[in-house]
Amino acid sequence: MRNNLTGNLPKVLFNTSSLIKIFLQQNNLVGSIPAVIATSPPIEYLDLRHNHISGKIPSSIGKLSSLVDLRITENNLVGSIPDSLGNISTLKILTLTGNKLSGTVPPSLFTMSSLTFLGLANNSLVGRLPSNIGYTLPNIQGLILSSNKFDGPIPASLPRAYNLRQLYLYNNSLTGFIPFFGSLPNLTELGLSYNQLEAGNWGFVSSLANCTRLTKLMLNGNSLQGKVPSSIGNLSDSLEWLWLRENQISGPIPPEIGNLKSLNRLYMDYNLITGNIPPTIGNLHSLVHLSLAHNKLSGQIPDTIGDLVKLNSLKLDGNNISGRIPESIGRCTQLQILNLAHNSLEGNIPSEIIKISSLSEELDLSHNYLSGGIPVEVGNLINVNKISISNNRLSGNIPSTLGQCVVLEYLDISRNKLSGKIPQFLTSLSSLQNLNLSFNNFGGEVPRGGIFYNASAVSIEGNDDLCTSIPTGGIPLCSMLVERKGKQNSSALILRIVIPTVAAVILILSCIATIYWRKRMQANPHLQEIGEHMRKISYKDIVRSTNSFSQANLIGSGSFGVVYKGSLKLQKDQVAIKIFNLNNYGANRSFIAECEALRNVRHRNLVKIITSCSSVDSTGADFKALVFQYMPNGNLEMWLHPEDLEHGERHILTLSQRINIGLDVAFALDYLHNQCASPLIHCDLKPSNILLDVDMVAYVTDFGLARFVFTPTNADSSTSLACLKGSIGYIPPEYGMSKEISTKGDVYSFGVLLLQMITGQSPTDGKFSDGASLHEFVRRAFPDNICGVVDPALLQDDRNTPEVMEKCVIPMVRIGLSCSMTSPKDRPDMGQVSAEILRIKHLASHMDVR
Ligand SMILES: *[C@@H]1O[C@H](CO)[C@@H](O)[C@H](O)[C@H]1NC(C)=O
Ligand SMILES: *[C@@H]1O[C@H](CO)[C@@H](O)[C@H](O)[C@H]1NC(C)=O
Ligand SMILES: *[C@@H]1O[C@H](CO)[C@@H](O)[C@H](O)[C@H]1NC(C)=O
Ligand SMILES: *[C@@H]1O[C@H](CO)[C@@H](O)[C@H](O)[C@H]1NC(C)=O
Ligand SMILES: *[C@@H]1O[C@H](CO)[C@@H](O)[C@H](O)[C@H]1NC(C)=O
Ligand SMILES: *[C@@H]1O[C@H](CO)[C@@H](O)[C@H](O)[C@H]1NC(C)=O
Repeated sequence: MRNNLTGNLPKVLFNTSSLIKIFLQQNNLVGSIPAVIATSPPIEYLDLRHNHISGKIPSSIGKLSSLVDLRITENNLVGSIPDSLGNISTLKILTLTGNKLSGTVPPSLFTMSSLTFLGLANNSLVGRLPSNIGYTLPNIQGLILSSNKFDGPIPASLPRAYNLRQLYLYNNSLTGFIPFFGSLPNLTELGLSYNQLEAGNWGFVSSLANCTRLTKLMLNGNSLQGKVPSSIGNLSDSLEWLWLRENQISGPIPPEIGNLKSLNRLYMDYNLITGNIPPTIGNLHSLVHLSLAHNKLSGQIPDTIGDLVKLNSLKLDGNNISGRIPESIGRCTQLQILNLAHNSLEGNIPSEIIKISSLSEELDLSHNYLSGGIPVEVGNLINVNKISISNNRLSGNIPSTLGQCVVLEYLDISRNKLSGKIPQFLTSLSSLQNLNLSFNNFGGEVPRGGIFYNASAVSIEGNDDLCTSIPTGGIPLCSMLVERKGKQNSSALILRIVIPTVAAVILILSCIATIYWRKRMQANPHLQEIGEHMRKISYKDIVRSTNSFSQANLIGSGSFGVVYKGSLKLQKDQVAIKIFNLNNYGANRSFIAECEALRNVRHRNLVKIITSCSSVDSTGADFKALVFQYMPNGNLEMWLHPEDLEHGERHILTLSQRINIGLDVAFALDYLHNQCASPLIHCDLKPSNILLDVDMVAYVTDFGLARFVFTPTNADSSTSLACLKGSIGYIPPEYGMSKEISTKGDVYSFGVLLLQMITGQSPTDGKFSDGASLHEFVRRAFPDNICGVVDPALLQDDRNTPEVMEKCVIPMVRIGLSCSMTSPKDRPDMGQVSAEILRIKHLASHMDVR
């Protein structure tokens, strides 16, 4: 053996009267197996494994009547297995695995009662397994028939072969139910993957609980349906592999799975599994590979996942998992693959997880709702080949520490809100082969060199402020930038001459101004705060940017004042400028309230303040304005009731847009009520205070009536700061009874808003007078006659099937109704509401609702 022997097997190989053991494995022997001429050679062991022997197995092999052990694994044998083999009554081990044998297996082979091991895997054998196989192979310990073309059921008698330890039938076309193997006390490995086997009532699992030595159970790629029973937790303590991937398993993961303490590979991916990831998963301390990817899991990732400190790969991608990424994952310091892509995760990327320096293959967090910046700790990923965090809501710059990820081959950060310059160090990442920076807010010159030489390896589209110095398709030349610089130089020159003469004057003026501002700021500490991190603009800037308050720029008005569209020099996008009418009672207070509120809050569904202006106008009167990001799609009122407006071109909101808007607003309110340092009550939620950006993402605006609640608990946050009003139709009934305001008041307004979005009916419509409210109108039709009240535009859309009505529309209406209950205590909390709408949203996206 292993002697690099070449050439044919000698014709006389078996013409011997003395040779008992022939070991020729792992050589380069060719040719075919010679015929056996002698009547009964004494050969007991014949091992020809791993050669290049071809041709058929001669029928005369049956004359080797003393043979105990015959191994011809991994050769090029063709044809069928001769049935004479079955005549060798002494044979214990027979393996022909890894040849090109075809045809059916002669029945004589399956009746060799002496056999302890039969290996016929990786051939092209066909036919059914004999039904009495369990009785005719009573001594069999290893039966390896995988990767052939066997069909029909697994014989019910197989569990009668009581000595069976290894049973591998994977990759065939076996059908029917998985038999009960509980009678096999020595069974250690059961591989039935890639057949068309069914689970039946899953009784085979409790039966397998009897097999206390089971270490490997592989059932992936079958037709298992229904729920994994809790008896899975009763499987052997020594179970190491549990593979259930690629079936049609539904229902939740039983928490009892946490009993399987020896598991090191758990694959349940590509099923239809629902529910949460049970926290008991954290008990599986030996787990090295965990994949629950491509299911319908929801809820949050349990913190206990961090107890799986031996994990090498964690794949949860393609589910509906929400909440934040638990920091505890940072304790999995042997992770090489972390894939949480295509979920609904939100919040920041915890620095803990981006510090896991063992990550070598991939870190994929793409297609979530992650926000904040890329943590600087990314520089710890010195072994990582692939980072994908595309399609999130990340902002800020690319941290310079990323330059330490020197073996990075693939970096995709597209479709975020990242900004700043594209760092030069990317040109020196020599392993980088694919760089996708597209659809962000990067600006400045695209670096040259390194990966940027290869246009097909870099994507930068959708970054409006990028320029290049070499003409490249679609990107403007930086020469424009040079022109601008030139202008700056000349103005710098002027300044250099003029400044000295004017400096003295400015100095004096600024002293006066400082004294003046100090005084004002003592009166208005909020302004001081805003001023600290925002560049203020002057009255003149506002006049200029609104084209002297031109009618064409006017985009809205209300009791507080007016809103203009404009553009500011310091801001590339258009802005909305809200000018307070200080003659109106409460306008000054409203300005202060709004400043105060927006200074303290930050959320992706709250409109962002860019700057403020507190000054005097041309007549010397006080002038106050706030500058916000401009929302090109206007407000929700315009979309729901365009007929009330002058230029009312009707764009109909689809169901999924309505669900998304509802979710955005619910997220914003949940944040205000439950996630701010002090709960903030908006007090004036209504469609005209919900703005829509170019992607139809909704933003809550107008904090002019907003109130902070300073209470130690926010369970039922309330305040008695009364004397305010909301808007008719959306004011909760208790405010009318001069009850104290509370977060539950916003919940009421939200409920009305939701009912309005689904029905298309305004709560201020004339027909809702005399005590008949929108809530009452919908409640009477709910749920059986709901189609009678749903916005006809939704009913006309044939994608909104009865199933969609039942699974999405009715639940949305139910939320709207419960939020707008008369009694505050009957209304849910915004946290519950947003979780429920998120659930509906996922359901809708699975039903392909658009
Ligand atoms: C087989 O061996 C016998 C006796 O050793 C000899 O006579 C005979 O020629 C051999 N046959 C072949 C085909 O070599
Ligand atoms: C098997 O053995 C029996 C009896 O010894 C014999 O009749 C039969 O021909 C043998 N079969 C083969 C295929 O050699
Ligand atoms: C479980 O194993 C015991 C002993 O090994 C045996 O007596 C019993 O019949 C088995 N149960 C099942 C369901 O096969
Ligand atoms: C699991 O085993 C426990 C203890 O042996 C038993 O009480 C329980 O009924 C079993 N569960 C199932 C689902 O078989
Ligand atoms: C880059 O990302 C964008 C947006 O995610 C995608 O459309 C584009 O196909 C990507 N480009 C490459 C080369 O993968
Ligand atoms: C350019 O990038 C593409 C995509 O990564 C790659 O297939 C190709 O080999 C690169 N060409 C050169 C010259 O490096």
